[in-house]
Amino acid sequence: MKALVTGSNGFIGSTLVEKLFEQGFSVRCMIRKTSNLRWLENLDVEFYYGDMRDPESLTHAVKDIGIVFHLAGVTKARSESGYIEGNYQGTLNLLNACRKSGASEVKFIFVSSQAAGGPGSPGKPKTEFDPPQPISLYGKSKLMAEKVVLDFAGAFPVCIIRPPSVYGPRDKDVFVLFKNIYKGFAPVLGSGKQTASMVYVYDLIDGILLTAKSPSATGKTFYLSGDGDYNWLSISKQIASALNKKPVTIHVPYFMLDIVSFFSTAAAVMNKKPALLNGDKVRELKQASWLCSNRRAKDELGFDPKFSLQDGLTATAEWYKKTGWL
Ligand SMILES: NC(=O)c1ccc[n+]([C@@H]2O[C@H](COP(=O)([O-])OP(=O)(O)OC[C@H]3O[C@@H](n4cnc5c(N)ncnc54)[C@H](OP(=O)(O)O)[C@@H]3O)[C@@H](O)[C@H]2O)c1
Repeated sequence: MKALVTGSNGFIGSTLVEKLFEQGFSVRCMIRKTSNLRWLENLDVEFYYGDMRDPESLTHAVKDIGIVFHLAGVTKARSESGYIEGNYQGTLNLLNACRKSGASEVKFIFVSSQAAGGPGSPGKPKTEFDPPQPISLYGKSKLMAEKVVLDFAGAFPVCIIRPPSVYGPRDKDVFVLFKNIYKGFAPVLGSGKQTASMVYVYDLIDGILLTAKSPSATGKTFYLSGDGDYNWLSISKQIASALNKKPVTIHVPYFMLDIVSFFSTAAAVMNKKPALLNGDKVRELKQASWLCSNRRAKDELGFDPKFSLQDGLTATAEWYKKTGWL
């Protein structure tokens, strides 16, 4: 079967492409002229130039495709319209292209985010049955995209995946914590007791492939999270252990986030680029809990995350060292 992967050169997308290739799928990777192709270079895949904002370019992207893995999206934008254009409008454009292609058998897997469901409460992981309450523009734009994906459920089979924080080889976000701990200090926000779910990228990919194969996944949403509830102090400790370091823990007060976000946003306006830390991200970081439950994925898909957090972090640390990132 031929698969189309959007966001194919990104952290999760490129790992998915490798796995699809290993499993014998023929893979069409959607990329842009500006995309960095370093993770795809040695793979025998088809490249297709397209942009989620350009409906015309998507018409040909979906030609002869049996399954679409839609991962392209924006996690950082300069304005609300940037999130909506990158996450909602792009998804709608791709869905329309699938409908126009007339292939009623095409399956559409959308990688959304835990942010669409919103934060959980400490000790009570969020489930797919809880009403979504996103608190960030990113989360709201992903929820808008989820709704439009479900609107197309009558035209072809669809499925929505909500990963929590994803870590593993090639990731640049949790990597910031690895880098600081490697240098000898472990920054945590406030008490560091805010809880979070995490998933190792290879477990996430296994889950994505299960949704692709399982007819009962159709029309449903799944949190694909690793096992266990963690807080940022314990995550830091496990990264330190993976790196064999004994860092000094620095408790960063909440107000510092607002200050850093203010300057980061101001610099971004001048550079005309999305800020690394903006008010939207700060709202997410200040939540007491980002726990979600993988119960439904386990019961209905047979999802079985193989990596404990410590094992996944240790494998990731080894990769960062081997590739010279650390
Ligand atoms: N990483 C996480 O912890 C996490 C957690 C939950 C959900 N997610 C979701 O998972 C997906 C993949 O995330 P990631 O971490 O792999 O992100 P990533 O490494 O930043 O990759 C994003 C991908 O989207 C592509 N893209 C963005 N705008 C596009 C456009 N207009 N047209 C075509 N391609 C476009 C990028 O292409 P270029 O390289 O050309 O920019 C890149 O390939 C995203 O939808 C994200 O929201 C990620």
